[in-house]
Amino acid sequence: MRYARLGGTGLVVSRLGFGAGSLGVGETLPGLVKNIDLETATRVVGKAMDAGITMFDTSNKYVNGQSEELLGKALGDRRGDIVLATKCGLPVGPSTLDKGLSARHVIRECEKSLKRLGTDWIDVYYAHQIDPEAQLEETARAFEHLVTSGKVRYVAVSNWPAWMTARMQGINERMGHAPIAANQVYYSLLGRQVERELIPLARQTGLGIVVYSALAGGFLSGKYERGKEAPPGTRRATFNISPKFEIEHGHDVVDLLRDLARQYGVAPSHIALAWTMQRPAVASVLFGISREQQLDDNLPAADLVLEDEHVAALDAITEPTE
Ligand SMILES: NC(=O)c1ccc[n+]([C@@H]2O[C@H](COP(=O)([O-])OP(=O)(O)OC[C@H]3O[C@@H](n4cnc5c(N)ncnc54)[C@H](OP(=O)(O)O)[C@@H]3O)[C@@H](O)[C@H]2O)c1
Repeated sequence: MRYARLGGTGLVVSRLGFGAGSLGVGETLPGLVKNIDLETATRVVGKAMDAGITMFDTSNKYVNGQSEELLGKALGDRRGDIVLATKCGLPVGPSTLDKGLSARHVIRECEKSLKRLGTDWIDVYYAHQIDPEAQLEETARAFEHLVTSGKVRYVAVSNWPAWMTARMQGINERMGHAPIAANQVYYSLLGRQVERELIPLARQTGLGIVVYSALAGGFLSGKYERGKEAPPGTRRATFNISPKFEIEHGHDVVDLLRDLARQYGVAPSHIALAWTMQRPAVASVLFGISREQQLDDNLPAADLVLEDEHVAALDAITEPTE
């Protein structure tokens, strides 16, 4: 396993991180079925830790709170050995008070997350998405309260555009608050939009980038064949929450991944994860699993380093056009 500082902070995180978004059991949305119970969760979390993963990511939203509960239980007395990240802001109930980044909601949700996780502190606490109605100063004050009260070590944002992140950084600086440690964003060979503004901001200001869906929801594992139906039980066959991309282009990229995978003697998913880990400003790349085997399949990616010429080939075929 390789490790990096989370942006300009002193916090060291594993370059490959465990996305706990699928821990839980049941149909959370029509067609979206999760099937990882406590026993399996305990095994996969233990295995991930044994492999050197220290970055664990969840949210108050995932599987209606089950993800936090199972992750907390699975970590057990090893909780102090890892970096625990969770999030708030997405709707968690029917009321207008059940979402967003007001001070009221942020602080209340943090307290609920601490309970579900069974811990006294959260290492990285994210605003899961923007709240266009809340003033950034208010969210910044709530974040600072969580830090000074010892509930949270580092505050962060997710899915925030560069301009808003920069504005929040300015507010924190002016108010003497803890800085924004990271922005967690979608970034993959099939989605490089963050390279235009957010990555330059991160490189300028020491903002850490944490990546999600680097496998484009599993597409870059190479399990989908051109012109064929998605295999039963996969994300694309059931509840396709994968990021959007042009499908023929996606298959062209997978063809190259398969070719490189043969050369390195690894799986296509390893090439996709390694490419993302090697991008500037990226501290940690999260992967998700829907079954235990996928953890075993993805872990070896942690140590793969791609040659410059292969990175260049992947860059060329995925160059953003807009
Ligand atoms: N901040 C945010 O807004 C946000 C958004 C999304 C995710 N996240 C975080 O990032 C984590 C990962 O996100 P993600 O699940 O979208 O990412 P992903 O790693 O791109 O996709 C994971 C999915 O790909 C498939 N897969 C994974 N490994 C595979 C393998 N070796 N072979 C074949 N298929 C494989 C599985 O789906 P199937 O088996 O079902 O096909 C798995 O559920 C989440 O758990 C969460 O912590 C954050």
